[in-house]
Amino acid sequence: MSTISTTAAPEPVTFPDGFGWGTATASYQIEGAVGVDGRSPSVWDTFSHTPGMITDGSNGDRADDHYYRYAEDVELMADLGTSFYRFSFAWPRLQPDGHGKLNPAGLAFYDRLTNKLLERGITPWVTLYHWDLPQVLEDAGGWPVRDTALRFADYSTQVFDALKDKVEHWTTLNEPFCAGLLSYAAGQLAPGRNEPVAGIHAVHHLLLGHGLALQAMRTQAGPEHQFGLTLNLSPVAAATDSEADADAARRIDALSNRLFLDPILKGSYPEDLVADLAPLMTFDHVQAGDLELISQPIEALGINYYMKYVVRAGRNHRYHGTPYVGSGDVEFVGAGLPRSARGWEINPDGLYELLTHVSSAYDAPPLWITENGIALDDVVDADGAVHDPDRIAYLDAHFRAAHRAITDGVDLRGYFIWTLTDNFEWSYGESSRFGLVHVDYETQVRTPKDSAAWYAKVTADNGLGE
Ligand code: NOJ
Repeated sequence: MSTISTTAAPEPVTFPDGFGWGTATASYQIEGAVGVDGRSPSVWDTFSHTPGMITDGSNGDRADDHYYRYAEDVELMADLGTSFYRFSFAWPRLQPDGHGKLNPAGLAFYDRLTNKLLERGITPWVTLYHWDLPQVLEDAGGWPVRDTALRFADYSTQVFDALKDKVEHWTTLNEPFCAGLLSYAAGQLAPGRNEPVAGIHAVHHLLLGHGLALQAMRTQAGPEHQFGLTLNLSPVAAATDSEADADAARRIDALSNRLFLDPILKGSYPEDLVADLAPLMTFDHVQAGDLELISQPIEALGINYYMKYVVRAGRNHRYHGTPYVGSGDVEFVGAGLPRSARGWEINPDGLYELLTHVSSAYDAPPLWITENGIALDDVVDADGAVHDPDRIAYLDAHFRAAHRAITDGVDLRGYFIWTLTDNFEWSYGESSRFGLVHVDYETQVRTPKDSAAWYAKVTADNGLGE
């Protein structure tokens, strides 16, 4: 990707009429109630209960207790004035054995939640897979195995059939980079496998699952239904103009971005990536017809944006413990910008660069930012409030970057904040707080942070003041 350097202008901005403001969550991160109403264990139950996997030793057994407190959480959304809520279905709650008929008790929960959202005028935006694979399917091989894609299509079609009268916006996958490479190649996410080639196979089967599910759901869909998937994308720049650094940037861009965008929007894997990986593997796992399924038209492309990468060619060849299969030598040096509590560089211009790049380099459907937000060390102050000016500054700058992209012609339809309530942040557990609403995990008391009131004003004004 090219490097575009711009400075956000602090002028008032107004978003297009009907722009979709929202918040986003995921089942395992908020629901808790893991052993309830027939839910089976997921890979995340196994992983989070494996000593050493979660930095603070927490797990998602209770998380935000949202399974029982969903009505209160919908009221928090209503207070924010958001028109959308993006959440995911727990596959092990809905189809505990990974095959067969749906579990009525699991379905009843999502029906209650959906009804509550609709009652409060909030449009549900659902994700069928946000990483909580039933453990039983991992035991059968997980995503590196082709059959998991078929299982996913069966599960998705049944859920679609059950909720299609109430839900119009359907996302198959959240972040196949993480569900494939971080989970199977880098061992950082459940199931924690360090098998580079399996990681690339997992990516393909995730994308195939998307294609098969889409094809099947489409046959039952009406004109009101919109389908898509969510990718986490990051612009990549080289630290210097040396050939080696440029090549490092090309390789990381291939693995982070084009490995997903190209099959979905062009129906092919990037040739340079296939060539890079040739010493490690063939692409024989890709069967005739797969890429046609994967590249079926979609109505929405969800983008999760957190950071831009600045990389250089390094010297340490590591093929394990990295999602960058075959490119473990690359070092991520950053651009020297301020960082979040999680250590992620804050780069709003990277969002502008990403949106304009995707919309000009691809024949892309309408774009939605399905996640953006920041982890901070938020605490409830002596005055009972949570003061998070850095989150407000972060969101303000990123909203302005998105607005600038719209002004420059990008068809961006909505923007969902990660996340509504602080929640179980995967391998960082409860220690990483991304919410607009603070959660005390002992008492489950929710305290809207200063950013929540600020965001309510943004949604009310459909824009930003000075
Ligand atoms: C991406 C994931 O989709 C979400 O589950 C996660 O909590 C956020 N990014 C923050 O890391």
